Amino acid sequence: MDSGLENVVAAETVLSDVDGLNGRLTIRGYPVELLAASMAYEDTAHLLWQGFFEELPDVAALGARLGSARAEVFALVKSIPAGLDTVRFLRTGWSLLEDDESLECVLRLAAAGPVFTAAAVRLEQGLPPIAPDPSLSQSADFLRMMTGKVPTQAEARALDAYLVTVSDHGLNASTFTARVVASTRAGLTSAAVAGLSALKGPLHGGAPGPVLDMIDEIGTPQNAEAWIDEALGRGDRLMGFGHRVYRVRDPRADALKAAVARLPGTSGRVAFAEHIEKAVLGCLAKKYPSRKLETNVEFYTALLLEALGIPRAAFTAVFACGRVLGWTAHAQEQVSTGRIVRPRSVYKGPVPVMA
Ligand code: CMC
Repeated sequence: MDSGLENVVAAETVLSDVDGLNGRLTIRGYPVELLAASMAYEDTAHLLWQGFFEELPDVAALGARLGSARAEVFALVKSIPAGLDTVRFLRTGWSLLEDDESLECVLRLAAAGPVFTAAAVRLEQGLPPIAPDPSLSQSADFLRMMTGKVPTQAEARALDAYLVTVSDHGLNASTFTARVVASTRAGLTSAAVAGLSALKGPLHGGAPGPVLDMIDEIGTPQNAEAWIDEALGRGDRLMGFGHRVYRVRDPRADALKAAVARLPGTSGRVAFAEHIEKAVLGCLAKKYPSRKLETNVEFYTALLLEALGIPRAAFTAVFACGRVLGWTAHAQEQVSTGRIVRPRSVYKGPVPVMA
């Protein structure tokens, strides 16, 4: 019995490889650092989906199809009840889409992520949602729909770096969930909605908002160690640190740190975050001398999304907009095995009552 399934291999995949001992992440043959530095969202969608969808268009045509799909799904925004937090808004919106295993379905899911997330942010601010501009890239349009202004090239590039960095990551909790759902042939929309439901927990994709809360509560460099020791003393988990697979630093942390550093005006915030990071790592090493706990992806995710002006309440939904590429590719890969996922349990309940 292995309750966290850490020693269970439940799939063969061509999509990504997480090398936890050496701190390497490979996504379909590309080191994550290369992906983050050079690929756009559309390139990565093509990379992950190729071989899993018939008639997948080339990258340029895929970008155009995503643009038209954004415009189509915008009509659904008014059917989503107002007053929902960003994740529930996105989950409700996604669940309104057709649910099958087609190219059309995956395009709409991917396109709807930014449309519904941006609409939720605007409504939360008491502002009307902004209609998509299909001529823009997915990342540029995402920021435009959220903030009301066309982003600079550097900003759109930074969001691309984030979305592609988190696009896939082996058999993490939400991807495994998506594969289980897909294995029943429930459809890609069901797989994505289930993936998002697993992602939203604070131990998975819910961490980056609380990372900023921690940075804000610490407030000054001098306060860092005392704050951290107190939190660890209470038994709190420090968000943005530790990982089930990595025994060294998560390679995505540095890919995203580099992306934040490329944005103008971020050097002060990055320096403060580095100070806190160092203090957290020192305190964790003291508390867990035999267990290497390192920085994970969420720490610099928080800084990057903050620098792009995205409110922290939307961070998990933005994560989902990147990870939906991986969920849907994994879902199709699982379907191609023709096996429903159905593990077993050990019964520990009362012995049967004899008649
Ligand atoms: N802060 C304080 N203590 C920690 C932390 C942390 N961030 N991470 C692990 N520990 C403790 C943990 O409580 C355990 O202590 P004990 O033996 O006393 O119960 C010990 O270290 C060993 O834990 P582990 O076996 O390494 O942890 P795990 O594999 O069960 O959990 C984790 C992995 C990511 C859920 C955990 O490290 C954590 O809760 N981190 C904070 C939340 C976070 O940043 N999540 C984002 C993960 S990266 C994005 C993703 O891929 O989902």
